[in-house]
Amino acid sequence: MTRSQRILVTAALPYANGAIHLGHLAGAYLPADIYVRYQRLKKREILFVCGSDEHGVPITISAEKENVPPQAIVDRYHSLNKTAFEKFGMSFDVYSRTSLPLHHETALEFFLDFHKRGILKEKREKQFYDAKAKKFLPDRYVEGVCPVCSNQEARGDQCENCGTYLEPTDLINPKSKISGETPVVRETSHLYFPLGDYQKRLEEYVRQRDARDGWKQNVLNYCRSWFNDGLRDRAVTRDLDWGVKIPLPGYENKVIYVWFDAVLGYVSATKEWSQQTGKPDKWKHFWLDEKTKYVAFIGKDNVVFHCIVFPAMLMAWNDGNTNQYVLPENVPANEFLNFEGQKFSKSREWGIDAADFLSRYPADSLRYYLSVALPEYRDSDFYWKAFQAKYNNELADILGNFVNRTLAFTERTFGNVVPGCAALTDLDKSILETLKKTPLLAGDHFEHYRFREGLLEIMNLARAANKYFNDSEPWKTAKSDKERCGTTINISLQLARALAILMSPIVPFSCEKIWKMLNLQGKAGLQSWDSAKELLIPDGHTVGQAEILITKIEDNVIESELRKLAVSQTREVNHIEESSPANKNLRRQVDVPSYDSTRKEARQMITIDDFKKVDLRVAKVVECENVPKTEKLLKLQVEIGSERRQIVAGIAQHYKPDELVGKSVVVVFNLRPAKLMGHESQGMLLAASDSDDKLVYVTTSSEIASGSAVK
Ligand code: MF3
Ligand code: ZN
Repeated sequence: MTRSQRILVTAALPYANGAIHLGHLAGAYLPADIYVRYQRLKKREILFVCGSDEHGVPITISAEKENVPPQAIVDRYHSLNKTAFEKFGMSFDVYSRTSLPLHHETALEFFLDFHKRGILKEKREKQFYDAKAKKFLPDRYVEGVCPVCSNQEARGDQCENCGTYLEPTDLINPKSKISGETPVVRETSHLYFPLGDYQKRLEEYVRQRDARDGWKQNVLNYCRSWFNDGLRDRAVTRDLDWGVKIPLPGYENKVIYVWFDAVLGYVSATKEWSQQTGKPDKWKHFWLDEKTKYVAFIGKDNVVFHCIVFPAMLMAWNDGNTNQYVLPENVPANEFLNFEGQKFSKSREWGIDAADFLSRYPADSLRYYLSVALPEYRDSDFYWKAFQAKYNNELADILGNFVNRTLAFTERTFGNVVPGCAALTDLDKSILETLKKTPLLAGDHFEHYRFREGLLEIMNLARAANKYFNDSEPWKTAKSDKERCGTTINISLQLARALAILMSPIVPFSCEKIWKMLNLQGKAGLQSWDSAKELLIPDGHTVGQAEILITKIEDNVIESELRKLAVSQTREVNHIEESSPANKNLRRQVDVPSYDSTRKEARQMITIDDFKKVDLRVAKVVECENVPKTEKLLKLQVEIGSERRQIVAGIAQHYKPDELVGKSVVVVFNLRPAKLMGHESQGMLLAASDSDDKLVYVTTSSEIASGSAVK
């Protein structure tokens, strides 16, 4: 922290249209919470705000599906997510919601100010209209056939099958989701925010903040790609009646576009916190004072809104008003967390939501594992086996074990009274050195949003502490040299105290337990970070009773999770097969982030370099068999040049195993391996399907050596 001691932290407001899952936690919330807890220990003035994003088309569609008012949907998910966050240990100062009147006022204040000052441009445009329902149809209210991949159920904003961003009018055979009728085209007006006018300043803004606070490379890359494409006007109104209503003539049936209001939810959430704490103007202290460092934690799919749209809105406000808002100093977006090798998907029931997980496992088990596996630089995965291994072998065996053996020894040998220190040996001095530098090293990582590395430093201290205990052999010195033994135990207790402080941003619940077992005053999470390196437990202090800190997770528990998964994986495989596998997985390789419901390109164009990332090879099938207990899967052994690989493909209903042996096929050679029904697949077979869903594998027209590249 070089600039200020006051920090405002926001975490993306989750849509109150579904339950948050582990991917969300790893993408934005856990890193934000670690950062905030760390900064509190550093004694910086900090405010942490979040809340539910309660507007937008997906919410009204859910409401119509369930035949309830949208408010009922958002009430349900607001309280569900709020509870899940609490259980997970998110330490928000406020968890607000955008359906509050306070928020509507805040959003309108910006919107009307922009309108009054002539910033918003009105455009007449052609839009689909449902003549039966007498309504204009915003993006997702129209469905039809994708012009790119012929998916029958493409949405008006995006085809989920091939990822192409669409306009409703791009769809073939469009239908209204309200009445099922074919919509007609009508003219209507919308207001646009001239994002392009801000491009130069935004580029300068990103450059300057990056120079000042070190932006993450992935975030800079996303920004660059938006800048390269050129920023365009963005519609900020929608034809809906759920959202922030617009008090302008001609806009009676329209609301502010959800993204415009959502980002301002951070401001209104801060206002709500102000009111709750009885200081209604305190929010200004954070938002309207340039000494505030504002950090916005998000997942990668929100980059454009936080690095481009929101800053542009704040610039537009600041240009015409005396109260000047702070812009994000940094937007440390994470990549995505996948689940057992595949993307989380609500519609495919793939993944696990936070509430469900936390009903079965302690929050710290998840916090620890996700911290180790945060997708900080690239996508990462949640694997059940790895979850168990990290928790048992690291949190339990390293941290838990150290604390427990130290306390057990103190009880047995010193009757729970902390012994004093005698002269220090080299062994003592060396561990105290490690203790001294760890808060600095780990703190520097946390300060710069490198949470995995910070955690590693702290766990290295815990590892060193165990080694110190072993090497000091207090069980021997207890008989031969009680003073020496006392010194070892004193230092070990000091280390346990230090670990309770340093680990508290990661596993706060366990750290409070350690604090209690050490019988220290206050809370671990309220100490000062820098005091971790001091030896502050006084001689003669009585520690409390040792209790098991971390209970290991048994194999059968994880096996039952994996069995449940296998059932849902059968569904998943069916799903993969329903669409065109080649198309789908090519898209996964190229890994285009999904931005929002506004179209970026009608057809998702990729560059030649993007395409070159996909390594396609000719392979020869040498063996092939059905995967037992599945209807759709074949397991192929293929030869790709000199390499042998196993590939599992969902084509068993189209080919008998024998029909494939000896055939030349085309495979994606550099696809990350995945397990299908417990069988590893080291690549993916390309196949094409026609409208009858008949799948045919892709091959070369004449014999060509296996291993040859397909370009
Ligand atoms: N609701 C959005 C999502 O879940 C995030 C909104 S962040 C905000 O992707 F800043 F706009 F609130
Ligand atoms: Zn498509």
